[in-house]
Amino acid sequence: MRVLITGAAGLVGRAAVEHCGRRGDVVLPYPHKDLDIADREAVDETILQAEPDVVINCAAWTNVDGCESDEQKAFAINASGPENLARACREAKCEFITISTDYVFDGRKSGFYTQLDEPNPESVYAASKLEGERLSAQAYDRSIIVRSGYIFGAGGTNFLSTVVSRAQRGEKLRAIADMYGTPTYANDLAERLRELAEVNIPGIYHVVNSGPGVSFEEFTRKAVALMGNSDAVIEPVSLEALDRPAKRPRNSRLRCLLSEQLALPPLRDWERALDQFVRV
Ligand SMILES: NC(=O)c1ccc[n+]([C@@H]2O[C@H](COP(=O)([O-])OP(=O)(O)OC[C@H]3O[C@@H](n4cnc5c(N)ncnc54)[C@H](OP(=O)(O)O)[C@@H]3O)[C@@H](O)[C@H]2O)c1
Repeated sequence: MRVLITGAAGLVGRAAVEHCGRRGDVVLPYPHKDLDIADREAVDETILQAEPDVVINCAAWTNVDGCESDEQKAFAINASGPENLARACREAKCEFITISTDYVFDGRKSGFYTQLDEPNPESVYAASKLEGERLSAQAYDRSIIVRSGYIFGAGGTNFLSTVVSRAQRGEKLRAIADMYGTPTYANDLAERLRELAEVNIPGIYHVVNSGPGVSFEEFTRKAVALMGNSDAVIEPVSLEALDRPAKRPRNSRLRCLLSEQLALPPLRDWERALDQFVRV
C-alpha cells in the first residue's frame, strides 16, 4: 500500500509511520512542517501528486487548554483540516482514515461509551474534533473515523513519558484520581489503523486497548510499579482542583460495537501493552 500519513511527527503519526514501514508499505510521511492540513490548496496538491492508496490523518491541534483560547485555530485545524483531506481523498479515489477523540462525550455516563451514545462535547477542542468527524463524513462518505483516548507511547510530551521520566528522576508525581478512560498504546492503535485500511469499511470506530477502564492515578501507579520504582510518591489530585481552562469528561471509556459486528479481534489488554511500553 502507498500510505500517506499527516501529522507524521506526532505521537500516533510516528507509530503509524513505523508500523506501516515494518509492513512493507510505501510510506509517505508528512509532518506539520511539510503539510498544513488547514491549507486546502496544499492538501489538494499533495494528495493529487502523491497518489496514495490511503491517507491516515494523525494531525490535529491537541493542546486541549490552548484550544479554549483560540477557537478559530482549533476549528481550522481539527474540523476544516479533516474536511480538506476527506474531499481530496474523494477526488483522488483513495481511502481516508482520520482520528477523533473520546472527549466528544460529556462523561456523565457511568459505563462504556459506544457509537449509540450521543456526543456532547464540553470543550472547544472536543467540539472542533466532533465537527471534524461530521465534515469528513459529509465530504466523503467512505471516511473511516477512529475515536481513541488516553493514548500513550514513545516520544513527544504525552502523559506517560512525563510520568516515566519524572519517576526516574525521583520526583513526586501528581495524578488525577477521578477521571476514567480506556488507555491505548500508540503502537496498537497504529496496527489497527492499518487493518482498518485493509478492511475498508467506512464508519465510526472506537479503538482502545481492552480491559477495564482506569483512572489516571491507577494508571500511573501501574506504570510506576511495572518500572520497578516502588519508592515513587504519587499524590492523587481531583480534576476540579487542577482548575484547567478546558473541561474534560470524567468518564470516557470506549467500546466499539462496529468492530464487534465486523468480528475484528479486540486489541490486547492495556496492562500488557503498558508492560511492553515500560520495558522498551
Ligand atoms: N494523545 C491522546 O491521548 C489522544 C486522545 C484521543 C484522541 N487523540 C487524537 O489522536 C490524534 C493524534 O494525536 P497525537 O496524540 O499523536 O498528538 P500529537 O503528538 O500532538 O500529534 C499531532 C501532530 O499534528 C501536528 N499538527 C498540528 N497542527 C497541524 C496542521 N495544521 N497541519 C498538519 N499537522 C499539524 C502536530 O505538529 P506540531 O506539534 O509541529 O504543530 C503534531 O505533530 C489526534 O487526532 C488527536 O486528537 C489523541
